[in-house]
Amino acid sequence: MTEPAIAFFDGRLMPLKDANVNIATHAFNYGTAVFEGIRGYWNDQEEELYVVQVGPHFARLQRSARVLQIDLPYTVEELVAHTKDMLKANQFREDVYIRPLAYKADAAIKVGLSGIKSGFGMFAVPMGNYVATGGIQVSVSSWRRIADNMIPSRAKVSGAYVNAALSSDQAKVDGYDEAIMLADDGHVSEASSSNLFMVRGGVLVTPPVTADILEGITRQVAIDLAREISVPVEVRPIDRTELYSAEEIFLCGTGVQLAAVISVDRRPVGEGKPGPITLALQELYYDLVRGRSARHRHYVTPVYRG
Ligand SMILES: Cc1ncc(COP(=O)(O)O)c(C=O)c1O
Repeated sequence: MTEPAIAFFDGRLMPLKDANVNIATHAFNYGTAVFEGIRGYWNDQEEELYVVQVGPHFARLQRSARVLQIDLPYTVEELVAHTKDMLKANQFREDVYIRPLAYKADAAIKVGLSGIKSGFGMFAVPMGNYVATGGIQVSVSSWRRIADNMIPSRAKVSGAYVNAALSSDQAKVDGYDEAIMLADDGHVSEASSSNLFMVRGGVLVTPPVTADILEGITRQVAIDLAREISVPVEVRPIDRTELYSAEEIFLCGTGVQLAAVISVDRRPVGEGKPGPITLALQELYYDLVRGRSARHRHYVTPVYRG
């Protein structure tokens, strides 16, 4: 990252070090912010930075903002344009992670949502792989995933990430790479910050959007890619013990990308190594995100060209 880093804050580009909020800010006190995590991948051959699914990410940000009654004064197209401007201003020539945040900005001691001013900002940082994608060991967490009528699970609400942090931290302290969370009804929901797929009987299965999951952008890409290579996809509830008899399991999300799971609660998944469907999808996904696949160009947006 070039120094000083440039953020987009209060409607303009400015040094990241100046893009600050006061400790009295509502979002800081009550977790009343919604955010996104978006990746950009550097393509060395083309000397281009490709941002993955930027439109769908900002469309989700708008839906999340609506849930918390946060005013987001930009269209998806404007948000994409500001993102490109910010990335260009930083002159990134590496993989990056972009973090937009829409939040309740008033300095107010008031538990509520209505009548509180909104703010928006975003920044980007260089980022490579954040969990090992070659094979991770996971546990089923004793922390349950937040239910939609407690803290809306399909909105990406900052305060809700206390739930993710508790489960992820417990898994790591206990010697695992990640935690899988069950919904309140005991069915599999998702991992602490990614969606889950398993393969049983050659069918790729993932929990429905009503299983208190975040409706992952990568989840949809994985479904698209599976269909492309004629892997049958089923969206249905998953029992905990199905994880113990699955042929393959992988997690997917902007951060974790597409990570093979090789054990659950110390029980090997399949043969204890990434399976053929996971490997095929990983190959397709990593080409797609770096803009290397001509037929998948509509998933990525070039920053420097166009
Ligand atoms: C709780 C949770 N679930 C799932 C995902 C995966 O979503 P996406 O593929 O849109 O990044 C994320 C990451 O953003 C997440 O934080």
